[in-house]
Amino acid sequence: MKKILIILLSIISVSCSYNNSISLKSPNNEIKLNFELVDGVPTYSVNNKNKKVINLSKMGLLFNNKIDFSKNLTLSETKSRSFNNSWKPLYGEEEIISNNYNELIISLNNDKYQMDIFFRVYNDGIAFKYVIPQQGGLNSYDIIDEMTEFNLSSKDSALWIPAFSYRRYEFLYANSSVDDISKKYYSKNVEDISYDTLGIDAAHTPLTIKKDNDLYISIHEANLIDYSSMTLKPKGNGKLEVELYPWSDGIKVKSTNGINSPWRMVQIGNNSSELLDSNIILNLNDDPDENEDFSWVKPGKYMGVWWEMIGTNESTWWPSKNHGANNSKVMNYINFASKHGFDGLLVEGWNKGWYPQWCCSGNGIPFIFTETVDDFNIELLSNYGKEKNISLVGHHETGGQIQNYENQLEDAFKLYNKYGIKNIKTGYVNDVSKNIKRIDEKGNIHKEWHHGQYMVNHFQKVIEMAAKYKLNIITHEPIKDTGLRRKYPNYISREGAKGQEFNGFWTNGVNHATNLPFTRMLSGPMDYTPGIFQLNNFRYDSPDSKIIDKGAIVPSTLAKELALYVVYYSPMQMAADLPKHYEKHLDAFEFIKNVPVDWSERVILNSSMSEYVTIARKDKNSNNWYVGGITDEKERNFVIDFSFLDNDKEYKMSIYSDTYNTHWKDNPMEYEIKSKAVTSEDNTNIYLAPGGGFAFEIKEITK
Ligand code: NOJ
Repeated sequence: MKKILIILLSIISVSCSYNNSISLKSPNNEIKLNFELVDGVPTYSVNNKNKKVINLSKMGLLFNNKIDFSKNLTLSETKSRSFNNSWKPLYGEEEIISNNYNELIISLNNDKYQMDIFFRVYNDGIAFKYVIPQQGGLNSYDIIDEMTEFNLSSKDSALWIPAFSYRRYEFLYANSSVDDISKKYYSKNVEDISYDTLGIDAAHTPLTIKKDNDLYISIHEANLIDYSSMTLKPKGNGKLEVELYPWSDGIKVKSTNGINSPWRMVQIGNNSSELLDSNIILNLNDDPDENEDFSWVKPGKYMGVWWEMIGTNESTWWPSKNHGANNSKVMNYINFASKHGFDGLLVEGWNKGWYPQWCCSGNGIPFIFTETVDDFNIELLSNYGKEKNISLVGHHETGGQIQNYENQLEDAFKLYNKYGIKNIKTGYVNDVSKNIKRIDEKGNIHKEWHHGQYMVNHFQKVIEMAAKYKLNIITHEPIKDTGLRRKYPNYISREGAKGQEFNGFWTNGVNHATNLPFTRMLSGPMDYTPGIFQLNNFRYDSPDSKIIDKGAIVPSTLAKELALYVVYYSPMQMAADLPKHYEKHLDAFEFIKNVPVDWSERVILNSSMSEYVTIARKDKNSNNWYVGGITDEKERNFVIDFSFLDNDKEYKMSIYSDTYNTHWKDNPMEYEIKSKAVTSEDNTNIYLAPGGGFAFEIKEITK
């Protein structure tokens, strides 16, 4: 990652109306943040032009040793500066990212100690973090409460998923007033989780809010390292307060060397499209350490011996007569993936330890990550893949048994490294709240939450170890994305929401896909696993039965499955369906083969939160553009204006669309492919069927 423009650092003037109130504006002067010490209590508020974003909200931290940084504070020093540069990510949605903000550092004191609050105001949002330097006389910095508030209005509506609930981030989104965030509301309106009585009523972040004044905001955190992850709990009257996942002993964050909290961040858009067009989360993360070289990290596309277990239910992960990960099947997949230009092939069920009841209560102890099952020959298959330019994508399902995994981690990575494997999908299925087993130094067992500091540190350990062996990680059941891929580009993708797989064994319903861009996707790339072509009559009752489950459908259309490759950004993108299903629609498969995974520009062409979105992206390695548009259960007609194209170029466009007869429920696989010439002067009408979508490939005509 290179700095490509001159960094502009200057001392800026901040306005102090009186000693304890200081305001800071965005570089374009539209967003204004105000810090104020009110009777010794630190507070902030945010405006966007003349609209309120965050009303006066308290801040602060409380420590186990009674040190209280939330009241009786005095302001000792303020510093400010402007920052403006651009940088180039190794891979991404944009080739050049502008990082332009104004910063204010406030030093506060209680009677003995000092805490700094860093504020940054960008043109698309604000962020702040707490920094407590290591200071004399203090050797423990254990946080028992973070008092940060986000004071909104009861009239503001949130798109949210419940925190402190059994299935991590894998929930459909509820849409309610911020005050209604609760398990009770969720159980009544979305899915019954009322039996999950552990933990408090709170929502995960990113939490997206449509404000009563028509602003769109997303509250999230950036650079989550060695801290607990943040949730937001409603306090009534529109107020949300940070609730950190505690350790099993109730402490929220443990530290012996000071505190450098993640950034608390509020992304701000005047409309839903502006919310999608932001790099603030990456800008709040750091470059890789100078001695780290990540040039080996390459984006790519992969297929998998996977959907036939989780989706079509033809095969098993565990040894059986229907075992999926067997040599001859894997070779067939390699042949198909190679013929169509893919980079990798995921194989699940290759290692010892799988058994029919492996899922889902965290019984991952039998998993061995260094030994293969008898019908999977890793040497043979990785060599076979190498001849055909296909690298195996490794798989580690841990069942949430962290110690078992960590004990084997380095050897497991060495094994994969030896066979030229470049990417590993990891998994942490453990569908019980607060059920991550931790064994302390004395051998005592504790049960931890999936998203507390213990797990944050585990994910960090894995990513750092993976970097040592030049491996990329794609985590399922992960910790949420907070932009760490800037510093650790090998943290290449993750799940962290209800992905496509739930349509295999359950259903996400037709309206989930249009919620994701406005929620989960704001945090970073998702391994959603798009590209299912056989959208009905695909699932067998069991691997031993040849009876098709007529009720199982993927609530999408084939054209929409193509659109998702553009709408949902991921540098490692899967073509999730089986070769035999792609064989039936090779003309549409052409789009999946061609669509890039690394981009130089992103243009949000239209959107309405939860209802529809169209995104155009420019290939990083050519002048070609790709457009994807998706809709919820409603059919729509869009006019797509091509003014985003370079105006001195001519293009040939392939259009992959629904037909007027397509419908997600009863006719999802009908599509048409047309082509025409376009320039930046043109526009075109496009029809999206109920639950459908479209994809364009727009190739420069070179003369
Ligand atoms: C859950 C993951 O999300 C899924 O993709 C994987 O196949 C299973 N766990 C088994 O590891």
